[in-house]
Amino acid sequence: MRVLSVASECYPLVKTGGLADVVGALPAALAAEGVEVRTLLPGYPGVVDALHGTEVVQAEDDLFGGPARLLAVRAAGLDLFVLDAPHLYARPGGPYAGPDRRDWPDNAQRFAALGWMAASVGRGAVEGWAPDVVHAHDWQAGLMPAYLHYGGGRRPGTVLTVHNLAFGGWFPADLLGALRLPAHAFDIEGVEFYGGIGFLKAGLRLADRVTTVSPTYAREITTPEEGYGLDGLLRARGTDLRGILNGLDTAVWDPTRDPHLPKPFDAARMTAREASRAALRHRMGLDDDPAALVLGAVTRLTPQKGTDLILAALPAILAAGMRLAVLGAGEAGLEDGLQRAAAEHPDRVAVRIGYDEALAHLIQAGCDALLVPSRFEPCGLTQMAALRYGALPVVSRVGGLTDTVIDANEAALAVGAATGIVFAPVTPAGFEGALARLAALWHDRDSWARTQGNAMAAQVGWEASARRYAALYREVVAISRSGLTVFTET
Ligand code: ADP
Ligand code: GLC
Repeated sequence: MRVLSVASECYPLVKTGGLADVVGALPAALAAEGVEVRTLLPGYPGVVDALHGTEVVQAEDDLFGGPARLLAVRAAGLDLFVLDAPHLYARPGGPYAGPDRRDWPDNAQRFAALGWMAASVGRGAVEGWAPDVVHAHDWQAGLMPAYLHYGGGRRPGTVLTVHNLAFGGWFPADLLGALRLPAHAFDIEGVEFYGGIGFLKAGLRLADRVTTVSPTYAREITTPEEGYGLDGLLRARGTDLRGILNGLDTAVWDPTRDPHLPKPFDAARMTAREASRAALRHRMGLDDDPAALVLGAVTRLTPQKGTDLILAALPAILAAGMRLAVLGAGEAGLEDGLQRAAAEHPDRVAVRIGYDEALAHLIQAGCDALLVPSRFEPCGLTQMAALRYGALPVVSRVGGLTDTVIDANEAALAVGAATGIVFAPVTPAGFEGALARLAALWHDRDSWARTQGNAMAAQVGWEASARRYAALYREVVAISRSGLTVFTET
């Protein structure tokens, strides 16, 4: 079984969030299931510069305004196709926005090109390597099923995975021709969405199967509250929509051999974890009170992640004698709020704005509890890293957080199942209630240690979910071989 995975991010080559982690980790997990994955990425400067020994396997003179080459290469343990199109990707800044944080004005073309090339490889454009399935991730790859659908030719099975329905990739209708879509594609059964072109919508409508990254989020997005206008379509897809829980890359997140930690540890060597605790306090300048509970957060600073709830809870956090260590980047107002708090309470609140892989690992290993008070969370990976590193996750009862953390209520504590604190509603009062329960658990040292042990024993790897993806691929291969279009609107 050959699968082409298509995405705008892939760890360790380019990452802004969990999408990259998933796209980077799935190929190895799927190899164990007999699935051969190649990953197609845009040729951002950071990606192209990291490659050695590339082979040109495809070329186009004019791909949305300039020449493009498809490079094949093995890098970072992955088999890659990199779309080298300098007019679209060779610029400073991030994958989606320039240094001024504004979205690139030609993002429609930049990511249509990704979907176009994915469809082209899907049809067999690369000699000797035609995939059985093309698996697109998020809106950036969302046009792939549309190009296959309207373009004709060889038809591999198609899967679209939604990592975050909040980002839909909506662009004006007058780009239709420029994006090489036929006029009849502009239809409710095609790419049309609220009078424009919806990249994610197109994929949700036209892929053979749609998945999202946790079973609970799969249910949530079929409701008007969480559906971003796509809930009707998602409901219509019925059992074509599946929730497959993300895993954690347990080779990257392994406290027994993590190069970013001062000392290796595991559930049997918890005193060694103290070295990370001390290193974290020292590195972030928190005072040296080993008895004080240290809260951590590693996160994009956005309302999705509930960063404002952490800010609102600061007086309660300080009054309870807790310390807070935050690593993140995002909205200016939230960055400022956190930095002001750190300036006011330098011994107790520490904030680092920016992206720092090493510090992310040290926070997981050195904090006592990791805060993830998200308003919605398709899956979430940081709470899984926290489980594995013995930091109790404090999470809201939404999406994948619900599916990965077991609340330390009396029943769960009694049967030895609890792994963290799960709270609802997602309000300042709900969050402060969770912190109060956390503090009570902290003072009950035996229950805390047992909960920590359960957390570290939780199964957070990819094995079970890789089996589910492999089974899904077999399903869509059967569909593409039968030549049937499965989904017809009723
Ligand atoms: P999302 O993708 O919604 O941001 P996830 O929890 O799925 O949330 O994934 C976030 C990933 O990004 C995790 O691997 C986390 O460790 C990492 N991360 C988030 N912010 C930072 C940061 N400031 N520095 C380093 N890593 C970060
Ligand atoms: C998105 C979601 C996050 C998920 C990640 C990987 O960024 O916000 O919940 O874990 O994708 O699927």
